[in-house]
Amino acid sequence: MKTLLATILVLAACGSSHDFEPATGGNPSAGKDAIRAYGCAACHDIPGVDAPGGRVGPPLGGFAKRAYIGGELPNTPENLERWVRDPHQIELHTAMPTLGLTQKEARDVAAYLYTLD
Ligand code: HEC
Repeated sequence: MKTLLATILVLAACGSSHDFEPATGGNPSAGKDAIRAYGCAACHDIPGVDAPGGRVGPPLGGFAKRAYIGGELPNTPENLERWVRDPHQIELHTAMPTLGLTQKEARDVAAYLYTLD
């Protein structure tokens, strides 16, 4: 009985953490700094990141609940990191520039974007 209860608790914990924080392993607060440093908000409206809140790209509010990235890739942590590092690898003619983020920066940025739900 005790084991059963523990199993249920573990499963419940997995379920909720998966819903709200996909395991990117990144650091959301470092991600927010990177978003500022790379000027993502020049093109995107990003909650929690100050103006300008550009309109060139789609607003990134609610990103954790978005089904697809760029209308192409299922929204998973790995795919989001790939997109942020090199969107042209995924969508040749996208207007989003390749900004030269490191793997770690991309992971942190993904962690921040997944806090937006
Ligand atoms: C020069 C403008 C520009 C800049 C700067 C820019 N983006 Fe984008 N971004 C776009 C455009 C345009 C799209 C839409 C791409 C498409 O669907 O082809 C996009 C798409 C995205 C998407 C997918 C959105 C969705 O709804 O599917 C994410 C996530 C994203 N950008 C994150 C970032 C991050 C993080 C940065 C900074 C590191 C950044 N962008 C910088 C223009 C930009």
